[in-house]
Amino acid sequence: PHTGPLAGKKILITAGPTHEPIDPVRYIANRSSGKQGYAIAASAAEAGADVTLISGPVDLDDPVGVRVIRVESARDMLAQVDAALPVDIAIFAAAVADWRVANAGEQKIKKTASGMPPLQLVENPDILATISKHQQNRPQLVIGFAAETQNLIENATSKLKRKGCDWIVANDVSPASGVMGGDRNTVHILTRDKADIAVDSWPVMTKEEVADALVAKIASTIGQQNS
Ligand code: C5P
Repeated sequence: PHTGPLAGKKILITAGPTHEPIDPVRYIANRSSGKQGYAIAASAAEAGADVTLISGPVDLDDPVGVRVIRVESARDMLAQVDAALPVDIAIFAAAVADWRVANAGEQKIKKTASGMPPLQLVENPDILATISKHQQNRPQLVIGFAAETQNLIENATSKLKRKGCDWIVANDVSPASGVMGGDRNTVHILTRDKADIAVDSWPVMTKEEVADALVAKIASTIGQQNS
């Protein structure tokens, strides 16, 4: 039996990029190391939660005490998220590709003299929005991320409303920030209580420290809601 502030809670976390095939040897992806999502999974497990981590392709070891399910594409990720429900808390840290190739080839596309192959893109499902709007199985607390290179709070606020989640962890990922692939992160936590949105800006921390602080905030919120 687990002990700790999140004992008895089921948490689902997505992390890493998704890979969308162009053909058997090529893909489209986002830049994402998976470090922040993996750190949150490790912190949540340490806090006693029952953690399922649904991860795109990353170069990281499985966190201790966490059930890890590896996927490639956005559609695979959504299917595994759906299969993991119901959970108490869901945290969507993955950098999901917005589009996939509609006409992905079953064979390697060859170079030809007649020019470059046209790639037709179609929109991927939005996993965070889908789960936030779930009728039966919506988790008690749904947390999304907003990685932006400009107008951070403004973009994060509209994302919070549009996607229907409860919190957004907003971080500046402009190249100058060094967040991408790095070990540190500066985040702002946007929380929504009906129409009111509050912003809590945290100082620069390591990704592990951000994970511990986020898990502590979740534990105190869930504890209050259940008491
Ligand atoms: O890509 P975007 O800025 O919209 O991502 C914001 C949040 O939505 C993140 O939490 C991300 O994991 C989630 N997301 C998702 N499925 C998508 C796109 C984004 O779950 N297709």
